[in-house]
Amino acid sequence: MDPDSRIYVAGHRGLAGSAIVRRLRAEGFERLVLRTHAELDLCNQAATEEFFAAEKPEYVFLAAALVGGIQANNTRRAEFIRDNLLVQTNAIDAAWRHGAKKLAFLGSSCIYPKFASQPMREDALLTGALEPTNEPYAIAKIAGIKMAQAYRDQYGFDAISLMPTNLYGPGDNFDLESSHVLPALLRKFHEAKVAGAATVTLWGNGTALREFLHVDDLASAAVFLMREYSAGEIINVGSGEEVSIGELAGLIGEVVGFEGEIVWDRGKPDGTPRKLMDSGRLRGMGWRAEVGLRGGVEGTYEWFRGMRAQ
Ligand SMILES: NC(=O)c1ccc[n+]([C@@H]2O[C@H](COP(=O)([O-])OP(=O)(O)OC[C@H]3O[C@@H](n4cnc5c(N)ncnc54)[C@H](OP(=O)(O)O)[C@@H]3O)[C@@H](O)[C@H]2O)c1
Repeated sequence: MDPDSRIYVAGHRGLAGSAIVRRLRAEGFERLVLRTHAELDLCNQAATEEFFAAEKPEYVFLAAALVGGIQANNTRRAEFIRDNLLVQTNAIDAAWRHGAKKLAFLGSSCIYPKFASQPMREDALLTGALEPTNEPYAIAKIAGIKMAQAYRDQYGFDAISLMPTNLYGPGDNFDLESSHVLPALLRKFHEAKVAGAATVTLWGNGTALREFLHVDDLASAAVFLMREYSAGEIINVGSGEEVSIGELAGLIGEVVGFEGEIVWDRGKPDGTPRKLMDSGRLRGMGWRAEVGLRGGVEGTYEWFRGMRAQ
């Protein structure tokens, strides 16, 4: 990529896409091609084809997808498999058809097998059964990875697939019905503080271990890999920083300024005991995450309060 490259960031108003746009602009890329979902529905093949034919982006960051937490994934199973298959199939095919030089597809750590050994390496993909609650989403994403690999093999199209761990940061989804754990905790603690509640009740016992990556780090990795990486093998993008849900809740309580007590509802499930990615391949290429969890949570909370104040 050079400063004159035409770069399409699909999903640029989402958590990952907006961070990729911030990063590209900060690095001096000015010829960004952007369309909101309302302007271009990537599920619509004809519209996608027309867009690529007219704009001919040289580089594509495919960060548009239907994304959600367990509840949304489990109850909207048809939408999750259909929309994700359509978005990625249309975008990857049109990008190749209209001469894009390179495309980066975003996979996800939650499409590895449910019982993959930890930390999860790239070669764990497709070695076991998936988590049933998000299987339709995972199958679609795995198809996207396979499509990127097949287009590389058969057509020589330089498509790469990144596997980000749990992301968080400005632009996150704070809707309790569909959000991920970190924004959900931030909102719960914030609302408890505002209400002057004495306690916050959380599911499980807080011992489950998770990894989080700030979206600004994901964006830096995505731009780095767009420049430096050209191979079919998927590549993990994680912080390597492991934290228990109990520690995370404690940290979020401190950042928010909640002075009450955390109560663990031990009758409720904790989820997988440990979920961590092995990002050794990416680190071996010289990339490092830069945003620490405390600073990242502070910035995200500031963003959340700013949104609420609007
Ligand atoms: N969030 C995470 O923790 C995480 C972790 C690992 C991997 N990822 C991957 O990162 C990618 C982006 O996730 P995200 O968290 O940034 O999601 P997000 O915040 O929900 O953003 C997704 C974006 O895609 C757009 N979009 C959805 N369907 C579309 C369509 N049919 N046509 C055009 N645009 C469409 C959405 O627009 P509307 O909102 O207007 O529909 C939204 O702007 C996904 O591939 C996801 O699998 C995310």
